[in-house]
Amino acid sequence: MNFDEIIDRRGTHSVKWDMMEKIYGVPADSGIAMWVADMDFRPPAAVQKAVEDMAAHGIYGYFGDDRAYLDAIRWWMATRHGWEVEPDWIFTTAGLVNGAALCIEAYTKPGDGVVLMTPVYHAFARVIKASGRRVVECELVGEGGRYKPDFDAWDAQMTGEERLFILCSPHNPGGRVWTAEELRGVADFCKRHDLVLVSDEIHHDLVFPGHNHIPMPLAAPDILDRLVMMTATTKTFNIAGAHIGNVIIPDPTLRKAFAGRMMALGISPNSFGVMMATAAYSDDGAQWVDALLTYLDGNRRLFDEGVNAIPGLASMRLEATYLAWVDFARTGMEREEFLDRVEKQAQIAVNHGPTFGKGGENFLRFNIATPRARVAEAVERLQRAFRDLQ
Ligand SMILES: Cc1ncc(COP(=O)(O)O)c(C=O)c1O
Repeated sequence: MNFDEIIDRRGTHSVKWDMMEKIYGVPADSGIAMWVADMDFRPPAAVQKAVEDMAAHGIYGYFGDDRAYLDAIRWWMATRHGWEVEPDWIFTTAGLVNGAALCIEAYTKPGDGVVLMTPVYHAFARVIKASGRRVVECELVGEGGRYKPDFDAWDAQMTGEERLFILCSPHNPGGRVWTAEELRGVADFCKRHDLVLVSDEIHHDLVFPGHNHIPMPLAAPDILDRLVMMTATTKTFNIAGAHIGNVIIPDPTLRKAFAGRMMALGISPNSFGVMMATAAYSDDGAQWVDALLTYLDGNRRLFDEGVNAIPGLASMRLEATYLAWVDFARTGMEREEFLDRVEKQAQIAVNHGPTFGKGGENFLRFNIATPRARVAEAVERLQRAFRDLQ
């Protein structure tokens, strides 16, 4: 567990490091990759061992007998999140973007509206549009440097043609851990407008001290008949390339529709993903996550202190996730100018705010899950690039 170790990921087919020059024009040799949400750390030793054991055996046939895997998922949800899950509620998808896409197909028709709280994780809008549904953007309100829902405004936006709500809890970007009251508000909103609620809780293990993530079924047990839960090992343990996710559906009718889409598309698990996820949901995995959170908390403080010292820049205080969301509005600069300074002068590859939907226009998202020395270097480069404001 040496999070300070600098591991060179260049030349390893890493989208984050090997595509930043092509996509953002940030030089591969001198740039810092702070975009895509994966971490520059090795996973827990137990995960590494699971892969090594498979490689040592050297047989890569079809996966079967998922009892240990389902037990591991149930153990993790019960011990880390206080949520009891039945084995037959669990579906294994090729990740959670795949899970969200399957929900869109299972619970909506082309032309239906799918509600998002924006700005929000960009892939949701991408899959909604690609499947011929409509994105309905309900904008979050920034109050005291934190995002809040605005249910009255959102009620007024509904036309009766919306069928699904995709919630991101904790929220990416902005790092909110929604309170019990806010989650209750989302559940009531879905009831009022008769929406199926997909609660994407992929960031639920990455919650900083002082904040308490509540799984949606515990916040609103009365909406299990319209709830689909999504969780995963991939963000928590940095194994996104395993492309594996848990879609957990307590209601039998929703389950049947989802199973139908899985069947129609011929989706079945990848054995590497299952073995890695089983190993991750363990005592070893739990200790690793606890250590990771302490480390990320240090990165978050260093980044926020350095960035917020630059007049005009404001990094939202993260309650969860390692995705810092920085507002450039008060620099008074056009987007092209602050982007030019971050990408060309500081040579940092970041996610662009507008891809997250309404409200993201003046923001950039920085991934701070990298060795601390690199976070410090990024902060210094930003301070130099915006020197004239100081
Ligand atoms: C909210 C959210 N959902 C899903 C994903 C991606 O999930 P997967 O890699 O399992 O498709 C991300 C990645 O950052 C995310 O932030």
